[in-house]
Amino acid sequence: MATIKCIGILTSGGDAPGMNAAIRAVTRSAIYHGFTVKGIMRGYKGLITNEIVDFGSQSVSNIIQLGGTILKTARCSEFTTSEGRKVAYDNMRAAGIDALVVIGGDGSLTGASIFAQEFDVPIIGLPGTIDRDLGGTDHTIGYDTALNTIMESVDKLRDTASSHERLFFVEVMGHTAGYLALNSALASGAEAAIIPEMETEVDQLAELINHGFRKSKNSAIVIVAENPATGGATGLAERVKKEFPQYDARVTILGHLQRGGSPTARDRILASRMGEAAVEAILEGQRNVMIGIEKGELTYVPFSKAINHRKAIDRDDIDLVKILSI
Ligand code: F6P
Repeated sequence: MATIKCIGILTSGGDAPGMNAAIRAVTRSAIYHGFTVKGIMRGYKGLITNEIVDFGSQSVSNIIQLGGTILKTARCSEFTTSEGRKVAYDNMRAAGIDALVVIGGDGSLTGASIFAQEFDVPIIGLPGTIDRDLGGTDHTIGYDTALNTIMESVDKLRDTASSHERLFFVEVMGHTAGYLALNSALASGAEAAIIPEMETEVDQLAELINHGFRKSKNSAIVIVAENPATGGATGLAERVKKEFPQYDARVTILGHLQRGGSPTARDRILASRMGEAAVEAILEGQRNVMIGIEKGELTYVPFSKAINHRKAIDRDDIDLVKILSI
């Protein structure tokens, strides 16, 4: 294997709070161990358009507390083509980059896996996504901050829900996963969580209205995972208007505000540990693995296991929301 001297870092896909803390950790650990570092702007797009900059220790000063990503990010359709990836590879080599650290979610690590195999490039992935939908890891960078943002928003909505005696459907992100919805329902004391993982098992809305509501409850918060197939919170509110007109149903879609804001201490620490571990992985000759964390221990997760193998949703937590909402 050729000696690795220079590490390139990029962030890709949806931004997540803590990505900057990860960029900082990778950069400083790499410099500490004698590597040179290059920042690649706008994810894979910047590899194709050759937006590659030298990174020093000071390039990452004062960013640990910032949401978003100083490297910018993009969803890049050109990188899904072999022609696009060839241009990316040529630019990467011309810039002297020997290995990549890719910070992103499922789609970004899928791209990394294909690129790594096609051009024999050593790549280490860091799980940067609010969705927490990657296999082999209990946490992803950004998830905790998004969860807290949702919880704080629902706390505010509860005031108006209760004053007006309304049923609020609050739509949260998660791509196709219900972790944010389920855990924010637990954290905010919501009456129910409607999640894609349960979609084929029961009519969650009918169950909620017919069995889940204490009759004396005049207001309720239901957290709904985004779901284009069912229309998410808007689709549910429309059904309520038709099928259960006795309820005054309202919809709040939290949208992209869930991705913003200063990362929590937990996300900053996770990003710092994982960023350093990515450099250790390169030193150990690891390649094409994502850094995961299970039971507090950092692990190497092969891309094939990280992608499309998310952990099953905890059925006990689904029951807990129900038990605590009586
Ligand atoms: O993957 C992060 C995420 O925020 C998902 O929860 C959501 O489905 C998607 O990105 C939204 O993507 P965009 O910002 O491109 O609209």
